[in-house]
Amino acid sequence: MSEFVLDFDAVDTAKVYSTSRLSGIADQQSQVIKDLLKRFKNADGALYGSLLDIGCGAGNVTRILATSFEESIGVDISKSQISLARNAAGPHRITFKAGVAESLPVADGTIDVVTVVFALHFIKCDEFLIECERVLKPGGIALFYAELLSRVLVRGSGSDTLTDTAPLVNQMNGKLSERAKSLKHPQRHVLDCYEALYNDMNWPGKQLIETEIENTSSLADFRRYCLSVPFCRSLGNTEENPVIEFVESVKRLCSMEDTKEEDIEVRVCYRAVTIVLLK
Ligand SMILES: C[S@@+](CC[C@H](N)C(=O)[O-])C[C@H]1O[C@@H](n2cnc3c(N)ncnc32)[C@H](O)[C@@H]1O
Repeated sequence: MSEFVLDFDAVDTAKVYSTSRLSGIADQQSQVIKDLLKRFKNADGALYGSLLDIGCGAGNVTRILATSFEESIGVDISKSQISLARNAAGPHRITFKAGVAESLPVADGTIDVVTVVFALHFIKCDEFLIECERVLKPGGIALFYAELLSRVLVRGSGSDTLTDTAPLVNQMNGKLSERAKSLKHPQRHVLDCYEALYNDMNWPGKQLIETEIENTSSLADFRRYCLSVPFCRSLGNTEENPVIEFVESVKRLCSMEDTKEEDIEVRVCYRAVTIVLLK
């Protein structure tokens, strides 16, 4: 079985990932986190204190979350991602730093909220939890977010009806999960919705909270977004790749082989999970 390579610093990886996001998805992911913050730490309309967003990438989610905080720090292992994050326009009061989750470049007891969006599966959890305990203030909170595709409803051009592609989604998730498990690739944790990571966490009072997000886009954007995930991209450019097999099967199912993917509307639902740790 071939070995995978995790090259977080490839400039290409950083650019492809941050420019292929579905429109509005970073807002939806941030909203899940903001809703949970309100539920656990209601600031009554005031700003929260300090945010530390780890594995922040190009800072797409950090910048949105930062609007609710007095000050924010984004940390990422990749210098290419940090450079993209620093160059993007956004609210003030954010510092982006290169660094690793397992040894955070942050002083003890200075952080109110730690977030990790779509990056926990790359991190050595035992070492990272010790760092969370160290940097969080008493009463602080950590939120680790991931999402898994659960439904795709398809509408053809000029059509009113939506076709549910559930069996194809299940088949794609199953095949991706099988491949990730056999390669021992970190993506397997996203495909099990962080269940194994959560079960292994040694933190009293931990919680795993599920919600759903829904996004409407074109099939072309959906294909681009799925293939921006390095694991999915690494599976090749033919129907051997479960993502490409899914997109082609959707077009056949809906008899839209001759329709441009830009003109095929998809309503995409994700099962969003957040691990919540209270200090
Ligand atoms: C899938 S991206 C998520 C980026 C961002 N949170 C978002 O949702 O747009 C995962 C990020 O985790 C970073 N990463 C991986 N391992 C890390 C570690 N041990 N410490 C800090 N960052 C890490 C990668 O460089 C990458 O930018």
